[in-house]
Amino acid sequence: MDERELLALAIKAREHAYVPYSHWAVGAALLASSGRVYTGCNIENAAYTPTNCAERTAFFKALSEGERKFDAIAVAGGPEHEEPEEICAPCGVCRQVMMEFCDPGQFRVILGTKDGVQTVMTLGELLPVGFGPQTLGIDKE
Ligand code: THU
Repeated sequence: MDERELLALAIKAREHAYVPYSHWAVGAALLASSGRVYTGCNIENAAYTPTNCAERTAFFKALSEGERKFDAIAVAGGPEHEEPEEICAPCGVCRQVMMEFCDPGQFRVILGTKDGVQTVMTLGELLPVGFGPQTLGIDKE
């Protein structure tokens, strides 16, 4: 599974986004270290705050299937019914969820558009000086 393939799955996952409020459809494809890929889309709510981002949908699907180690996530988003023309970076809450389960120096966040992969960053680059399990002395190895 290379970065291009993962991005294609993220773009495909946008098709299921439930976005009647923002009309902003996001898709994510999460590559677990097991080799399995879990996709996700954003799911909005009339009360707004229960909204779940695409990235967290993918993570919670994977975690609930027993996955605990992850290598990379591809993300693509933009106006509903249009192909993504600009990158869509993960929100702060999603970065923090990644921080719980991913090595900030290793985990790759692949940001792409309809034209392909545009940027690949580590979680540590996206969330420098982060707060995570290690801060509390939790060694999950
Ligand atoms: N959203 C995501 O799903 N992921 C991101 O990376 C940024 C924002 C969603 C939340 C909401 O449904 C919509 O995009 C507009 O903020």
